[in-house]
Amino acid sequence: MPDLEAILLVGGQGTRLRPLTLGTPKPLLQTAGVPFLAHQLARARSFGVRRIVFATSYKASMFEPAFGDGAAFGLSLVYMTEETPLGTGGAIRNAAEALTAGPGDPVLILNGDILSGHDIGEQVRVHRAKQAAVTLHLTEVDDPSRFGCVPTDEAGRVTAFLEKTPNPVTNRINAGCYVFTRSVIDSIPRDEVVSVERETFPGLIESGELVLGYADRTYWLDVGTPTAYVQGSRDLVLGKLSSPALPGPTGEYLQLEGARISPEAKVQGGTAVGARAVVEAGASVVGSVLSDDCVVEAGATVTDSVVGQGARVCAGTVVRDAVIGDGAIVRPGNELQNGVRIWPGIELPERALRYSSDV
Ligand code: GTP
Repeated sequence: MPDLEAILLVGGQGTRLRPLTLGTPKPLLQTAGVPFLAHQLARARSFGVRRIVFATSYKASMFEPAFGDGAAFGLSLVYMTEETPLGTGGAIRNAAEALTAGPGDPVLILNGDILSGHDIGEQVRVHRAKQAAVTLHLTEVDDPSRFGCVPTDEAGRVTAFLEKTPNPVTNRINAGCYVFTRSVIDSIPRDEVVSVERETFPGLIESGELVLGYADRTYWLDVGTPTAYVQGSRDLVLGKLSSPALPGPTGEYLQLEGARISPEAKVQGGTAVGARAVVEAGASVVGSVLSDDCVVEAGATVTDSVVGQGARVCAGTVVRDAVIGDGAIVRPGNELQNGVRIWPGIELPERALRYSSDV
């Protein structure tokens, strides 16, 4: 396949992932030991992408220091920033100023928060073969009522973009990876807030353009919520999705440089242990993300949770399905469950919480 250009959408605020995204944009959150985007960059490269334009907005200045010119990934990276967020369509149009592709060339568009095992090369081949305006990756989910759904006809042509409904007509949903013919991107209005999902795609369908669906059931995850983010990291460490960007051997856990895990601690279920993080004797950490420099003290239990950078989970504490913000301290006698989120820097006194709520 000829070299391919891509636009990576990374300008969203990631509100559903707060407080993790207060200091770090979602695409840079450490996932299985590396910034989330590293997995997407490596996968894109493996399918023939050679040049990527980042569409940045929220915390825009943090991306270039993280990935530079892309040489480490065998890619050429360019950074474009919106002065004010332009939505997914406006961001694509703005980033397109930096593309080199000609009007008839395909351009890959990736949402910067999706882990997907689908065959990008095949999606591009289908797009070229049928000379579509846009070819959308569609994934099939068991419960489509939580998403908008995307019905197609027998030939794969997308017939509508439907909002969330309790009775969806199909279990196929928009998987956040598109191939656009370059000239179609140029038809998006410039310097305006535009949503591809709500405006561009329905508009193209309405005007009779060929919008194709490329459907499959490979691994797919939108890491937009804390639960999904932890699952993504866990799945990568457990090897449920392969990634060329993993920083070390995978298995029950992944350990970054300088991490110290007591031989009397139990660390398993795809846990990622950040650089210089400490897990003391008798602690149990299962299926979780331990960020750099955090500490899980003796006898504490951390399950399906995120412990932020430099945070401390004190002796005997129970943390399950929770997010502990950067630098927060959870004193002994607390039991955090059911999606509770502790904001960065908060010190939770002894025995303050035994139920779920935000702090
Ligand atoms: P939430 O606030 O939690 O909904 O997350 P989000 O801000 O990332 O929004 P969403 O998940 O809908 O965004 C899908 C993709 O588009 C993500 O990769 C975002 O980074 C990106 N995105 C959303 N809005 C914008 C925007 O205005 N500009 C740019 N450049 N990217 C955007």
